[in-house]
Amino acid sequence: MTNLEGRMAIVTGAARGTGAVIARRFVEQGATVLLGDILHEEAEDTAAKIGDGAHFFPHDVTQPADWDQVVARALELGDRIDVLVNNAALLHLGTIMNTPEDVLRRVLEVNTVGPYLGMRAVVPVMRKQGGGSIVNVGSVDSLIGMNGITSYCASKWGLRGLSKAAALELGRDAIRVNSVCPGGGNAEMYGPWMSQLANFMDETLAYTENRAIPGGVPLDKIADAVCFFASDASASCTGVDLPVDGGAHAGHFIPGFNTL
Ligand SMILES: NC(=O)c1ccc[n+]([C@@H]2O[C@H](COP(=O)([O-])OP(=O)(O)OC[C@H]3O[C@@H](n4cnc5c(N)ncnc54)[C@H](O)[C@@H]3O)[C@@H](O)[C@H]2O)c1
Repeated sequence: MTNLEGRMAIVTGAARGTGAVIARRFVEQGATVLLGDILHEEAEDTAAKIGDGAHFFPHDVTQPADWDQVVARALELGDRIDVLVNNAALLHLGTIMNTPEDVLRRVLEVNTVGPYLGMRAVVPVMRKQGGGSIVNVGSVDSLIGMNGITSYCASKWGLRGLSKAAALELGRDAIRVNSVCPGGGNAEMYGPWMSQLANFMDETLAYTENRAIPGGVPLDKIADAVCFFASDASASCTGVDLPVDGGAHAGHFIPGFNTL
C-alpha cells in the first residue's frame, strides 16, 4: 500500500528518533533518502546503519543555503524530489512569561521557518517534474493548546497553518501537503529538560496515561502515517492533519468516569 519504489526523499532531523525511523522505513519501501541534521556524526552513523539508499547530508533547516545544497544533492542522486518530510524540531519548555523573546524566535525559526524554507526549496523541482508530497511533522500541540510549552505550541500551530495554505496553493500542481501530529516521540527531545520534568513525574505520566489509548506513541506508528502521506495510497489527501496520539486530541479522559 505504501510502496515508495524509485522515489527520492529528503527527511530533516533524521539523525535519531522519529526522523531516523522514517528514513529507515522509506529505504525499506524502496526509496532513496537524504538524511539531514545538525548532529552530523549521529546522522552519518544512522545513514550508514540503514545502508544502501540512505545518504547523510549536513543540513541546518534554518539556513537557505543548506536547502539549496540539499536540493542539488537530491537532484544529483535521483534527478527528482518526490517527498520532503519536514521533521526537524526544537523543544523549549517555558510559560509565556518565562520564555525570552530570543528563545521564541529561535523555536519559530527551526520549527516553522525551517519547513517554510524547505517547501520553497523543493516546490520548483516538484512543479517541474509534475508533482510531489510534502509531509510536515507537527504534534498534538498543533491541534490543542498546552501550558508550559508556549513557544513550541505556537511553532507547531504555525506549521499547521502553513501546511493548510500550501495544500490549497499547490494542489493544482499535484503537490500534496499533509501533517502528521504525534502525541509522543523520542525521549531524547526532552533531554535538556529532564531535571525540571523530574519535579512533575506524576503529571507527566498522567499526560500519556489519560488518553483513549494509554501510553506512549511508538515511533514506527508515526513512520507508518508519514509513509501513507508520502505514497500514492494518499493520492486524494491534502491539507490533512493526522493525529497519531492514542486519542489525546479527542478530549478529556477522566479515569473514574468509565465506571459511571
Ligand atoms: N518527542 C516528542 O515527544 C514529540 C511529540 C510530538 C511531536 N514530536 C515531533 O516529532 C518530530 C521528531 O522529533 P523526535 O521526537 O524524533 O525528537 P528528536 O529530538 O530526537 O528529533 C529532532 C531532530 O531534529 C534535529 N534538529 C534540531 N534542530 C535542527 C536544525 N536546525 N536543522 C536540522 N535538524 C535539526 C535534532 O538534531 C534531532 O535529530 C519533531 O517535529 C517533533 O516536534 C515529538
